[in-house]
Amino acid sequence: MTIISPSILSADFANLERDIKRVEEGGADWIHVDVMDGHFVPNITIGVPVVKSLKKVPNVPLDLHLMIENPEKYVEAFRNAGADIITFHYEAVSDVEKIVDMIKKSGAKVGMSIKPKTKASEIIKYLPILDLLLVMTVEPGFGGQAFMPDCADKIPEIKQNAHKDLVIQVDGGINSETGKICTSKGANSLVAGSYIYDANDIEKAILSLK
Ligand code: DX5
Ligand code: ZN
Repeated sequence: MTIISPSILSADFANLERDIKRVEEGGADWIHVDVMDGHFVPNITIGVPVVKSLKKVPNVPLDLHLMIENPEKYVEAFRNAGADIITFHYEAVSDVEKIVDMIKKSGAKVGMSIKPKTKASEIIKYLPILDLLLVMTVEPGFGGQAFMPDCADKIPEIKQNAHKDLVIQVDGGINSETGKICTSKGANSLVAGSYIYDANDIEKAILSLK
């Protein structure tokens, strides 16, 4: 079963509680929270206090995607705020093992994300220590961008080298068609923002991804 993690970046930020409940009632498995700092990516979104408040809303896990510099500085704060899965960017750290260890010790599941230009061969060695590998299928920073098919071509190599419990997640431009391309290549978790939140029928959109 594919894990569907709707990105609240496409929600109405004045109605986050309502919009989280909407996707949860529509069958979301996780809630994807995009944290951006205006440095690692050219956009600023939400931080620790908002995550802390959001934690009170859904009964499903909070899947945190950190698009920030120095992510190791914020692991403890985001974990205390209620993050269940903490995904950092490979390109934002100098010591992968160190931050993986920090996240594991915090009690959260650990994910690592790679940007479009990062090759799968570069990160294969880290797969054994990860719970999740996130393949970005757009340049991180904004919702509503077009899916980059070349990025999905990294998935089979990752799948071949993955342990049996590794979650292989994709994020960026995912809809029922591009999602299918990714799952057929070996992805088992789909993040989608605009496809889900712009849909007239959220439940149907989530079901089409599953
Ligand atoms: C982009 C974020 C995504 C974004 C996806 O940097 O990581 O999670 O919300 O949005 P869509 O699904 O609209 O491409
Ligand atoms: Zn994301």
